[in-house]
Amino acid sequence: MTLFPSSTQGIPPVGDVPRHIAIIMDGNGRWAKKRFMPRVAGHKRGVETVREIIKACVQRGVAYLTLFAFSSENWRRPQEEVSFLMQLFLRALDEEVAKLHENGIRFRVIGDLSPFDPQIVALIQRGEAMTAANTALTLTIAANYGGRWDILQAMEKMLAVRPGKRSGFKETDLTDHLALNYGPEPDLFIRTGGEQRISNFLLWQLAYSELYFTDTLWPEFDTAALDLAIASYLRRERRFGRTSEQLQPEQGRSATAGKNA
Ligand code: IPE
Ligand code: IPE
Ligand code: MG
Repeated sequence: MTLFPSSTQGIPPVGDVPRHIAIIMDGNGRWAKKRFMPRVAGHKRGVETVREIIKACVQRGVAYLTLFAFSSENWRRPQEEVSFLMQLFLRALDEEVAKLHENGIRFRVIGDLSPFDPQIVALIQRGEAMTAANTALTLTIAANYGGRWDILQAMEKMLAVRPGKRSGFKETDLTDHLALNYGPEPDLFIRTGGEQRISNFLLWQLAYSELYFTDTLWPEFDTAALDLAIASYLRRERRFGRTSEQLQPEQGRSATAGKNA
């Protein structure tokens, strides 16, 4: 069922554009604080960045964009901030999904939806159904998502479909049930806002992703900043365990694409 090669069981294709970019959109609160504004003003402004980055990814031929919007640990924030984020999510779902559809974008949400307001869940389901056949870009929003939650829920499903089986599992037995089972592993992981950590994002899938950290705060992360991240990615040599010498004949990047050329 898994359609894409695993970075540990096979060698994923390496092209001129990262096929899947996953982003931890961090720094909204600090952006607002710097301007003597409430933290939530930073979240509002962050939505504008989301629009710009989606558009830039479509233009650049990125096939999958995955954005971390709310982690399973973000419930620990002050209640007013959590409710504001929920309202913002609801409003974005209501106003933006039709526009995504007009632009040929497939919309998906990953995460544990059980604590969300039924109105939010209904809008997610409607948006996913409406955009299911679109091919310009697959946009995934990670909401109440945690990498550990994902691995555990996948393990439970894996065991449920094979009652009695205790050993001899293959990677795909598990990965078929990960929330992001419809996409390849991220080629490029970006975290804005200066922190250099994964914060329980896609723990399984980041095994061989190229990691890019920038001090730019999410509301200030624009197309030019995205291009810098992609340029950095293109200079990396993705060896997947092999030696540099082994790569030369097979990596098909253009002469301008840095070390992998
Ligand atoms: C990221 O920005 C958005 C969410 C986690 C929802 P933050 O709100 O974490 O901003 P900082 O890190 O406090 O600046
Ligand atoms: C990670 O950002 C989650 C999202 C961007 C949604 P946080 O700001 O919550 O991460 P930590 O707590 O600094 O690691
Ligand atoms: Mg933060």
